[in-house]
Amino acid sequence: MGFGRGKVILLGEHAVVHGYPAIAVGIEKGVTAEAKSAERDLLRLSPWNLALRPDPQGDEPLERAFGAVLALYSDRPALEVSAEVELPAGAGLGCSAAIGVAVLDAIDRVLRIERSRTDLAEAALAWERVFHGNPSGIDNAMSAVGGVALYRKGDPLQPLRSNKPLHLVIGYSGASSSTKEMVASVARQLEGDPERVNKAFEGIEVLVRNAKLAIESGDHIALGQLLDFNHTILSSLMLCTSKLEEMCQTARRAGALGAKMTGAGGGGCMFALAPKRDEALRLCGVLGEGAFVAEVSA
Ligand code: MEV
Repeated sequence: MGFGRGKVILLGEHAVVHGYPAIAVGIEKGVTAEAKSAERDLLRLSPWNLALRPDPQGDEPLERAFGAVLALYSDRPALEVSAEVELPAGAGLGCSAAIGVAVLDAIDRVLRIERSRTDLAEAALAWERVFHGNPSGIDNAMSAVGGVALYRKGDPLQPLRSNKPLHLVIGYSGASSSTKEMVASVARQLEGDPERVNKAFEGIEVLVRNAKLAIESGDHIALGQLLDFNHTILSSLMLCTSKLEEMCQTARRAGALGAKMTGAGGGGCMFALAPKRDEALRLCGVLGEGAFVAEVSA
């Protein structure tokens, strides 16, 4: 069975597109996929009931992405790939990257191709580029490799180690957004006011560097504060919605150590850092429908 994890960016989204570091975690929820030889190439996606043919020039991005992935295999039979998606789409949890990783993993397995998870992440960029135009690569890297890691475009993923697990509670605002559009909006702001936006990115980099130390030393109180600061910078880049803002405030008032939007923003998800497992379960109830707990070990 092919598998691609979902991911949560703890700090550094958007800045990471422009070469700054970010820290992310892989979560258990993701996408599973199975491939078999068939009469013609087909991609089935559940739970959306979609059956798609590859079309490198088509209007439908999923058809183009499937075409881009199949083009990576030179000598192969026709393939039917069935993927089961457990993540909300357009919600900042890396759904599209997880589908790409799972589909490639499933095809590798049926064709008996040995590929490291790092190489799988790299190959999945062909899928991701169709959706995001200019992806930093963090989503596919975390989807393929998982764990807790520091990522910088062009560098190998740097796994972080700690003896204290992170208790995250992920809440969904109920609105989806387009990563491509949100990334383009930041690029426009950068072009229009480079001084302000570069300062924001530099501020985020300092937070990421400190968050790395906080994770490694198990100082989750400091980490929570750094998440709050990063959230404020993302809000200043107009990436946060009033619903996400309200959810972060609710989580903080209910005892979270920190809370922030995650991923592209403009909708999607936020997450809160809980001090312990039972607190995470309680916060999950507070964050309402669609919220779930992810315990991640670094
Ligand atoms: C999307 O999950 C994260 C962004 O930083 C885009 C990217 O890194 O490609 C917004």
